[in-house]
Amino acid sequence: MDFNTAGMIDPFGRAISYLRVSVTDRCDFRCTYCMAEDMAFLPKRDLLTLEELDRLCTVFIEKGVRKLRLTGGEPLVRKNVMHLVRDLSRHLKSGALDELTLTTNGSQLSRFAEELADCGVRRINVSLDTLDPEKFRTITRWGNLEKVLQGIEAAERAGLKIKLNAVALKDFNDREIPELLRWAHGRGIDLTVIETMPMGEIDADRTDQYLPLSLLRAELEREFTLTDIPYKTGGPARYVEVKETGGRLGFITPMTHNFCESCNRVRLTCTGTLYMCLGQDDAADLRAPLRQSEGNELVSAAIDEAIGRKPKGHDFVIDRNTRRPAVARHMSVTGG
Ligand code: 5AD
Ligand code: SF4
Repeated sequence: MDFNTAGMIDPFGRAISYLRVSVTDRCDFRCTYCMAEDMAFLPKRDLLTLEELDRLCTVFIEKGVRKLRLTGGEPLVRKNVMHLVRDLSRHLKSGALDELTLTTNGSQLSRFAEELADCGVRRINVSLDTLDPEKFRTITRWGNLEKVLQGIEAAERAGLKIKLNAVALKDFNDREIPELLRWAHGRGIDLTVIETMPMGEIDADRTDQYLPLSLLRAELEREFTLTDIPYKTGGPARYVEVKETGGRLGFITPMTHNFCESCNRVRLTCTGTLYMCLGQDDAADLRAPLRQSEGNELVSAAIDEAIGRKPKGHDFVIDRNTRRPAVARHMSVTGG
């Protein structure tokens, strides 16, 4: 290799070892906090091919990425996505990559769980905000809870370790988190709750949805004994142990606590755009340098240049005076 493989270090001394790849901005759900109902998606011709995505991921791995997560939209609705998973799994076998994982809404897991496990995927994150079928339909607009639960079972049978992610929504699922917690912990699944972030225009008013997790925690502590623990999964979640269930509960608090100091990640979209921060608009196009030459020197240099301007962090605000989202793009462009 004739380009820099010494690892990617940003201006704040943070080593970038984690790449999140949104393989499609499309989704078979329309969660109300994530998308408008009539979303305009990227034209298919703008997408990188699966081969190009593999090539880009491989360059990142050569440059020091040790953990790779496929996201969306819903990653499992991208046509032939399992080809990509299979191709990327060679980096697990070679030892270049520690972990290949994905974040999914679970709708397609019944179909793909076994193959994912067979490709060396060990853990997956499943997004699930409620166990009530009607509420599930309301929040996802198009989703079917039964299918997701079947998907979770299929994943368990395939031996995949599951973590549940729930976005905490005021007056929607806040009172249901205890039930979700007992359900998850009863099956040996960790649960992480997330504050909703102001990304992209949606049909609803985010002020009505936003629930600071400090409030949720106080509410949970009336019922459960929560003890802070140093457990880390390489992400921004702060974990507690729940005495009554013996399980772990994570809090992701982009709004009430900025967690950017230890950020180790960058995000690649399905068009080859690299976002250096979830909460900032600045991005670098990697598609042009990728296509300009068969070798990877140009794209490698473009990545170095981009990492060189990774910002210190985000500053999200949700209040009645701040009418506009912090960034125009939806979460489904970068997949969380
Ligand atoms: N704020 C917080 N989380 C969001 N998600 C989607 N949109 C938002 C938002 N605006 C979550 C999904 C999923 C993950 C990929 O991101 O529920 O868990
Ligand atoms: Fe799809 Fe996830 Fe957005 Fe829901 S939150 S619409 S499942 S991408």
